[in-house]
Amino acid sequence: MKINIGIIGCGYVGLVTAACFAERGYKVLGVDSDAGKIKTLLSGHLPIYEPGLAELVKRNQSRKRLVFSTDIGQAVRFADVIFIAVGTPLGDNGGADLSQVKRVAREVAKNLSSRYKIIAEKSTVPVGTAEQLKTTIRKYAPARAEFDVISNPEFLQEGRAIKTTLYPDRIVVGLETKRAEGVMRKLYASFKAPILITDLESAELIKHAANSFLAMKISYINAIAQICEKSGADVRKVAYGIGLDKRIGREFLRAGIGYGGFCLPKDVSAFVHIAEKLGCKFDLLKAVQSINRDQRQHFIRKIEKACGSVKHKKIAVLGLSFKPDTDDIRESPAFDIIRGLIRKGAIVAAYDPKAINNMKKILPAGKVHYVGNSYQAASGADCLAIITEWDEFKNLDLKRIKRIMKTPLVVDGRNMFDPQMMEKQGFNYLGIGFK
Ligand code: UGA
Repeated sequence: MKINIGIIGCGYVGLVTAACFAERGYKVLGVDSDAGKIKTLLSGHLPIYEPGLAELVKRNQSRKRLVFSTDIGQAVRFADVIFIAVGTPLGDNGGADLSQVKRVAREVAKNLSSRYKIIAEKSTVPVGTAEQLKTTIRKYAPARAEFDVISNPEFLQEGRAIKTTLYPDRIVVGLETKRAEGVMRKLYASFKAPILITDLESAELIKHAANSFLAMKISYINAIAQICEKSGADVRKVAYGIGLDKRIGREFLRAGIGYGGFCLPKDVSAFVHIAEKLGCKFDLLKAVQSINRDQRQHFIRKIEKACGSVKHKKIAVLGLSFKPDTDDIRESPAFDIIRGLIRKGAIVAAYDPKAINNMKKILPAGKVHYVGNSYQAASGADCLAIITEWDEFKNLDLKRIKRIMKTPLVVDGRNMFDPQMMEKQGFNYLGIGFK
């Protein structure tokens, strides 16, 4: 049997998943209710920036393996496995808002037939959602419909989305029948990653537990960074020293201005909510959140202290996206930091290689002076604040930067540069987690 794939939701996760399955040789139909997005995709353009994705989508569109539509019914009729990859943003109560997932489940259900289908949760959802989806789908599907609901969380990282999808550390599939297991094992056979088959609830929980653990590592090292600053230790050395212990591991121990993005902040918050609903306290994760919030304020305080006051001072902000190699500004530390600086009377000139247009939507031009390159931002500045560690910034002409700044002060929220080198170049250089 040849497996055809339907992906409902063409955001970061859906689009990357669609393109990667097509690249593996499957026929994929991607659906999104946003007609504008589908029009953009059909005209050969991408609604987002992700390295390598435009080429992958284009290649598979021309091979006729990847097509797009706004019609969920078409995807259900076409596909053997239907992935639900719509957004699960934070609701008002701090838990995940599942309205899009539920709407899609009803639509999928109405289009089911006696041909067996797998409906797979790709979006990050609270534990217990697959069970709810089964009930909803049974309610709206024709009596003869044959289907399984499974959980298949994604672990892709923005900026490295293709690599982390095509070559994941593991593939997690929560399911209940041998039939579904057979299809999913076949679907992922060419991915050469360990496949972990679990029950539905464990698969759902693995996703929230993994993202929260990553957030915890970041907040842990950021808390250590504050201790390092007070004690004279260097957090980069401490992170290296603890990371060499295999039980701890070296990844996700980069101190800085904390985690952002659409996933970690929302998933930590949702996980606290899930735990509390189940009657379990999760104070550990609340501390993770509070350290993360404070890290942004700590950065502002550092700039303020170094400048005396930021009132009427020009602060050059380099980087707006929540991490490099993406235009995604959702929950980016840049937003809170720029807003905080403006409130204190600073004049902010900001540059980012890809994310300016997105940031303009939430911080309009006028409040922030968006400029076309790092040098325009730095010109006449009292302080250069580094928010995102784009490669482009690593290769800056530092002599030129020093010449054009009013005061050669660099406050680096990502510890991009070697402090000794920066001081040699004549900068007053402040990073996170060392003196
Ligand atoms: C995260 C997870 O890493 C993925 O495994 C998961 O699939 C994804 O969420 C998701 O749920 O969709 P992503 O949000 O793309 O991926 O970004 P990360 O690479 O995890 O970075 C998150 C934030 O943490 C960024 O703001 C980054 O700058 C920050 N970070 C990361 C640090 O401050 N220090 C570190 O050592 C690592």
